[in-house]
Amino acid sequence: MSIAINDNIVDEIKSRCNIVDVIGQVVPLKKTGSNHKGVCPFHNEKTPSFVVSETKQIYTCFGCGATGDAIEFVEKYYNLEFKEAIGKMAAQYGIEIKSASPSDGKREELYEINREAATFFYKAFIKSNNIGYNYMKKRGIDIATLKKFGVGYADSEWDSLYNYFKAKGTDVKLLIELGLVSESKGKYFDKYRNRIMFPIINTRGKIIGFGGRAIGDDQPKYLNSPESKVFMKKNNLYGINLTRQDIDKEDYAILVEGYMDAISLYESGIRNVCASLGTALTENQAKLLKRYTNNIVLSYDADVAGQAASLRGMDILYKENCKVKVLQVSDGKDPDEFVRKKGKEAFIRLVKEALPYVDYKIYLLKNKYDMNTTEGSIDLLKESAKILKGLTPIEAEAYIKKLAKDTKISESAIRFEVNGLNDEPVHQRQQYEYENENSVKELLPIDMIEKNIIKILLLKSSYINKVKILENPFLSESGKKIFNMIVSITRDIEEVDIRKLQDSLEERERNILNDIMENIHLGGKEEMIFNDCVHNINNRIVIRKERDLIFRLSMADEEENIEKINEITKELMELQKLKNVDRR
Ligand code: GTP
Ligand code: MN
Repeated sequence: MSIAINDNIVDEIKSRCNIVDVIGQVVPLKKTGSNHKGVCPFHNEKTPSFVVSETKQIYTCFGCGATGDAIEFVEKYYNLEFKEAIGKMAAQYGIEIKSASPSDGKREELYEINREAATFFYKAFIKSNNIGYNYMKKRGIDIATLKKFGVGYADSEWDSLYNYFKAKGTDVKLLIELGLVSESKGKYFDKYRNRIMFPIINTRGKIIGFGGRAIGDDQPKYLNSPESKVFMKKNNLYGINLTRQDIDKEDYAILVEGYMDAISLYESGIRNVCASLGTALTENQAKLLKRYTNNIVLSYDADVAGQAASLRGMDILYKENCKVKVLQVSDGKDPDEFVRKKGKEAFIRLVKEALPYVDYKIYLLKNKYDMNTTEGSIDLLKESAKILKGLTPIEAEAYIKKLAKDTKISESAIRFEVNGLNDEPVHQRQQYEYENENSVKELLPIDMIEKNIIKILLLKSSYINKVKILENPFLSESGKKIFNMIVSITRDIEEVDIRKLQDSLEERERNILNDIMENIHLGGKEEMIFNDCVHNINNRIVIRKERDLIFRLSMADEEENIEKINEITKELMELQKLKNVDRR
């Protein structure tokens, strides 16, 4: 196959083909810490010294010294040329590559024009006493840094750049396609005038586009290259061409919103930084970052828009399995202002204090709701529970403890909320009678306490005796039936014979049992969960009453008046106090 290899294909392959999968197909790999290890396919060895790094997307053999990225592995292992390796990987991962077409040659031509334009802007920038340079100097950026980023200046004439290219015989259509020149009534003029020019450079060192900042009050403040064959915003990050080694070395990246934030942090000595090009972070940008690190610190502007962008960005990164933290600028509107005022060390301190994904979300909720009121605490709790539902049981546990401390609501109530007790559709909920324990006997559906207990019994029959001594452990008919059957078919130290249990139960209970086996996961925390269940059984009446109050409160929102809400809230507060006292 004759294929033209362009940056997009190579980038696409690198971001889509995880080296662990690529190598794992032919070399059995074992995870050891953050790496994978196996027996080197390139030399004879018995003890594995072939290491694959998922974060760095490279392999290294400490025995024979072989090293490279996924593409290089495929070349070497299958004895292929670069192009053939690309073809093989693209086919395997369903990445489309078009056969050689004139447009690939054109792409190179477009890069070349951008490069010449950047040189043109740069020369204008370093001329003595020009407005652009003075502006950047006033913003505290040193010439060495500006050079590294290739910063330039588009003067305020209407046709400097156009004339420059015209003299060279460049096709004006290409200039228009790149957004460098505009046409109006048969006349051509420069698109960028009196602007600081930030070239946007991909990881292969090609200039794919520009961001041009107005020096005065011209609008728009930033004029970016239009999307084109060579410029796809969603696939790139500003500065990463320069900073990827630093990101790799530090093993975390600081992701900012603005060009100036990236440059300013770099100037201060914080070099593992890049900017998201002023758009909402995309999946491809996350994948690009992941080539160098899994750890991302989002450092967006301090305003509401920045907060919203952080939230969206976080979710994108979280989905890509990155470890995300959010840094909050405490002084100044963006990282640029902060670092100029307070310096590098202060910014590093902010990095250290950055809140992990879940903490940040809860932090925002805490700001949203007034935790001095019970309603506020309950709203906070409900919203937080939604977040915690997405976590592993162990992670969730840690946050449940924290939340309980902060909200003074009991851990078990939060655990209930998280485990989905209050998730039943409203019409299935029942208004429980709670005045008198005896009235809560019949018709109750099986709940989480009972399901958890049954699950524990299925896993460890030694708990049977512990359950036997509890007072009223099962309120539901089905729970009782399943428990009695477990007791009757299980002898002393035997494990519960699940097959036998299924056969002995009636259909309704058998379905419940199957549901428990499939859907209740205790994450190895039987003992802790059992203790919680015991506590909750003892508190059951109180808890049912509490559920009912919360339910009524959530229904009261619009229909009922404020006094009613206050009344229920007060009752709920009393109840929760009672429960907390009870727990001590
Ligand atoms: P300074 O105001 O010079 O410090 O710029 P900044 O880099 O801090 O930018 P700001 O926080 O205002 O905006 C963040 C990023 O959003 C910028 O770097 C641009 O990428 C993008 N952006 C801002 N304003 C505009 C605009 O008017 N048009 C476009 N297309 N993008 C913009
Ligand atoms: Mn700024």
